Amino acid sequence: MIGPDERIFVAGHRGMVGAAVVRQLRRQGCRNIITRSHDELDLVDQGRVKDFFKGEKIDRVILAAARVGGIHANNRYPAEFIYTNLMIQSNVIHQAFKCGVEKLLFLGSSCIYPKYSPQPMKESHLLTGTLEPTNEPYAIAKIAGIKMCESYNRQYGTCYRSVMPTNLYGPGDNYHLENSHVIPAMVRKYHLAKLAMDGNVAAIEADQARYGKIPEDISRAIGYRQDLKKLSDDKRCEVVLWGSGTPRREFLHVDDMAGACVHVMSLDQSLFVGANPSFVNVGAGKDIPISQIAQIIAELVGYKGITRFNSDQPDGTPRKLLDITRLSQLGWKPAYSLKEGLENAYEAYLSGTDSR
Ligand SMILES: NC(=O)c1ccc[n+]([C@@H]2O[C@H](COP(=O)([O-])OP(=O)(O)OC[C@H]3O[C@@H](n4cnc5c(N)ncnc54)[C@H](OP(=O)(O)O)[C@@H]3O)[C@@H](O)[C@H]2O)c1
Repeated sequence: MIGPDERIFVAGHRGMVGAAVVRQLRRQGCRNIITRSHDELDLVDQGRVKDFFKGEKIDRVILAAARVGGIHANNRYPAEFIYTNLMIQSNVIHQAFKCGVEKLLFLGSSCIYPKYSPQPMKESHLLTGTLEPTNEPYAIAKIAGIKMCESYNRQYGTCYRSVMPTNLYGPGDNYHLENSHVIPAMVRKYHLAKLAMDGNVAAIEADQARYGKIPEDISRAIGYRQDLKKLSDDKRCEVVLWGSGTPRREFLHVDDMAGACVHVMSLDQSLFVGANPSFVNVGAGKDIPISQIAQIIAELVGYKGITRFNSDQPDGTPRKLLDITRLSQLGWKPAYSLKEGLENAYEAYLSGTDSR
């Protein structure tokens, strides 16, 4: 159990997961949540992290700060991804230990598993094959984080453990179309296409001001002339999605993720040592073809136009599903259905609370 007066440091509280964890802790009555923005405390800076931990008497850490990005960013900035993540996690885990923090939760990622891992992916598949090359530096950093927690437990008897989330979505997501994930990209594309079909230029401009520039190819597809701030006369509008639509993916609402983090933190340490893995997969337990999720989002948004799958773009791996047997045995399951979760995410998108 997490006590209401425990001093809990949530690293990365302005991010999608960190913000959801703070909401969850507040709902549970936690009164001493400690946060620092990136500007206030750069977690890459060892000296400053050391001073921070010395100055605050922290009981627990949830490490949700990381350099995160899609395939494009991972491919383009591999050095930044490995350096920043190794530094953040090494500084936080080590300084937490030095200052006597006994409990820590590290946020990993499902990309730690081998590229050709059997499906669904079990915790035991870690380090059984080569990684997906595009995000290998990021995945190596995450694996190092898991192993660091495990090693500190073995040598110092700490209660450091890790969670491996599947693809997350929900409030606080990134809707910049250059680097957003599957669900936020679809939500925004369908929303813009619906506005175009309704002839609502003012709302398209407002969306652009809030969520960032609409890339030229997407503008063209929905028939919006950015230079003239008007819709094209032929009223041509379609939503173009990358790949064939057949790959299957798993999605979890971020509030469920936060719930799982708090649940996993509350469990007895004996479940995470010895023959038990020090980490646990967190997912929905089922996957869905990309084409089907597109259909659900189109309906939610009220878009009745054409959707075209561009098969010239790569599909990626056909299936990526986490095995959540261990999580279920540990007594947790998601609360949101995919449809409910998407409704909630779209509401947050429309309310504008998601702009960042
Ligand atoms: N979202 C997903 O689908 C997903 C899936 C699997 C795993 N995860 C894991 O969950 C964790 C959180 O992800 P997220 O989606 O919440 O990412 P996010 O929205 O990008 O949030 C990350 C947070 O970390 C902060 N941060 C980055 N570098 C920092 C530094 N040097 N010092 C201090 N703060 C720093 C960021 O602040 P700035 O923005 O100011 O830099 C941001 O607030 C990550 O470990 C990620 O690997 C996420």
